[in-house]
Amino acid sequence: MKKLLVIAQMLLLGFSSCVIEPEKNNKTNADMEMEKAFTDTLDGKKVQMFRLSNKGGMSVDFSNYGATVLAIQVPNKEGKMENVLLGYDSAKDLFAGKSYFGCIVGRYANRIANGKFSIDGQSFSAPQNNGVNSLHGGVNSIDKQVWDVKQMNDAISFSIKIKDGENGYPGEMNLTVIYSLREDNSLVIDYAATTDKPTLVNVTNHAYFNLTGDPSKTILDHDMMINASKFTPVDSTLIPTGELKEVRGTAFDFTAAKPIGKDIAANEQQLIYGLGYDHNFVFDSKDIKTPAVVVTEKTSGRKMEVFTTEPGVQFYSGNFLDGNEKGRGMAYQYRTGFCLETQHFPDSPNQPSFPTTLLKPGETWKSQTIYRFSTIK
Ligand code: GLA
Repeated sequence: MKKLLVIAQMLLLGFSSCVIEPEKNNKTNADMEMEKAFTDTLDGKKVQMFRLSNKGGMSVDFSNYGATVLAIQVPNKEGKMENVLLGYDSAKDLFAGKSYFGCIVGRYANRIANGKFSIDGQSFSAPQNNGVNSLHGGVNSIDKQVWDVKQMNDAISFSIKIKDGENGYPGEMNLTVIYSLREDNSLVIDYAATTDKPTLVNVTNHAYFNLTGDPSKTILDHDMMINASKFTPVDSTLIPTGELKEVRGTAFDFTAAKPIGKDIAANEQQLIYGLGYDHNFVFDSKDIKTPAVVVTEKTSGRKMEVFTTEPGVQFYSGNFLDGNEKGRGMAYQYRTGFCLETQHFPDSPNQPSFPTTLLKPGETWKSQTIYRFSTIK
């Protein structure tokens, strides 16, 4: 009866895609196994798997643990659906994960030098969980917590309350992340946050992509274009020096598409510090309609375009993957996934010339990023 009602409702409103709840049908045995593996309880809260799918057959799986994207199934040039994300096989593995696969990071994604910052003359300290610096919001941050879920017809909304003082950041923050799936194979991520005290906000998704669909292969042959004529060079601890450096004449020039592996081993100090690419690129355009990044992979024919309202992106070439993270029947090796973390620049609170990441009471921080998938011949 419930199923009939849902179908009738969908027909009436003409919904083009829908959320499949765990208890609903039309799933394969593999789907049911996966749902079971990703069902658990943590801190007295239920952890579940959710799926969005569209008419073309693209599907995206989520967990309310870390508001994580678990898998993205998209067609290759022959129409074969494959998962283009690195991911785990169970909720337990997700809980134990150390590489931020597919989760939402914040309230301050990326690094803050020595974990120290001040707001209105008051000093704050976030945990130094990455050498001397603070990374991705601190310890047991929102990527390691169970979020509230609201299922909508072609979208799923995750929300979380970050406590005043949690990980050293001031202000109780209400953060919502809405994932929606469009018929043109776009996964849209809408972020919104409010606070009751002045605080910092920089929230992103940390998915690792491998467009071949087979993460036993490296990502070095993927072609990448980044619409950025500048990047933010870093010191040896990956904190920006404050300079916006021209990419022209360096390994960081992705203004015309080139293979990720082409210059990754160049003898440049920035690549030595990053152990490869692990840098923030400064977009030339802030227009959500202009592709900020375009990645193509010839063997599968898959193409991914990234659109965003954010001023930058951390392009991370999977330099810390070393076989310790496992899933999908393999151990993920060095450079088998890349991340495109759309964001404000690292260490912005300590770099007055960077766009501000300050959020004040009464304001709503909003951000949108779109990952659109298609194929080339
Ligand atoms: C971000 C950082 C990297 C690394 C990964 C997670 O991309 O910039 O240095 O910490 O997260 O391993």
